[in-house]
Amino acid sequence: MELASNSIPTAQEQENTQSSSRLRLYLGRQASSPWRYCLEQFVLALFGWIPTIVGIGLRALVYPLIMKMDGVAAIENHVRIRYADHIRLGKNVYLDESVYLHAMPAGIEIGDNTYVMHHAELHVFNFRELPNAHIKIGANCLISEFNVLRGQGGITIGNNVYTSPFVQMVAVNHVYTDREQPIIAQGITAQGITIQDNVWIGSSAIILDGVTVGKGAVVAAGAVVTKDVAPHTIVAGVPAKLVKEISGEERLPPGLPIYMGGG
Ligand SMILES: CC(C)(COP(=O)(O)OP(=O)(O)OC[C@H]1O[C@@H](n2cnc3c(N)ncnc32)[C@H](O)[C@@H]1OP(=O)(O)O)[C@@H](O)C(=O)NCCC(=O)NCCS
Repeated sequence: MELASNSIPTAQEQENTQSSSRLRLYLGRQASSPWRYCLEQFVLALFGWIPTIVGIGLRALVYPLIMKMDGVAAIENHVRIRYADHIRLGKNVYLDESVYLHAMPAGIEIGDNTYVMHHAELHVFNFRELPNAHIKIGANCLISEFNVLRGQGGITIGNNVYTSPFVQMVAVNHVYTDREQPIIAQGITAQGITIQDNVWIGSSAIILDGVTVGKGAVVAAGAVVTKDVAPHTIVAGVPAKLVKEISGEERLPPGLPIYMGGG
């Protein structure tokens, strides 16, 4: 028997439609097209797992097929990459094991000589078509272990910025003001975070949306930064408050050893 074209879909047909829209949603969150999904997953599956300097060398040769690389970048094994065509790596970038870059779709840019240490997550998280969603990191920076950067409102980091382990930058807030609606249905706001040049952010500090950390500033370990930080100042605590200005006159006590180099 032939079904009329405007007949009500059966439960099975509804289930099939839902499954295919879930599949489309999943793929849409992995890559910019089904073809790019196949290409990127193929390259990552073939070369992403290979350990040692051999793997780093092969990835330096092959990964320019899937993302923009301005020069040689050292990419360790098990770096998870999504929306690779929206990622740009500068010269001598180092991505440590298990780093996660999700660039959907507005992009991640990492400047020359910048290191991203293991388990750091850089997630643009733009599932709502936000106009400024991106993560841009300048040159000579260190993004430390287990940092989480959520770039919905945009995160712009200058040059010579060092973060310590477990730092979080979350450029997004949920709207919560309507009592009658679930918070998850009320939308988000996303203004963006700016970290200017030559900033040091201590372990486990959290930088909230809308904040600018001025150049040469220091954020103490464990601080929750809710307001702009003036250049050349130190802020600490929850919420972060000014504890010191960096005058530039003070010298360390003689005899205190200073070691030059990374974090
Ligand atoms: C911010 C920091 C550098 C300040 O060091 P400092 O210049 O020697 O400053 P001081 O120890 O003189 O502290 C100044 C004031 O801030 C307070 N303070 C310092 N660090 C603080 C912190 N993390 N949380 C709350 N208050 C803090 C001090 O108690 C002091 O307050 P007081 O004047 O009322 O006594 C240091 O405390 C810090 O947090 N370092 C981060 C360490 C880290 O994450 N290392 C990992 C590197 S990869």
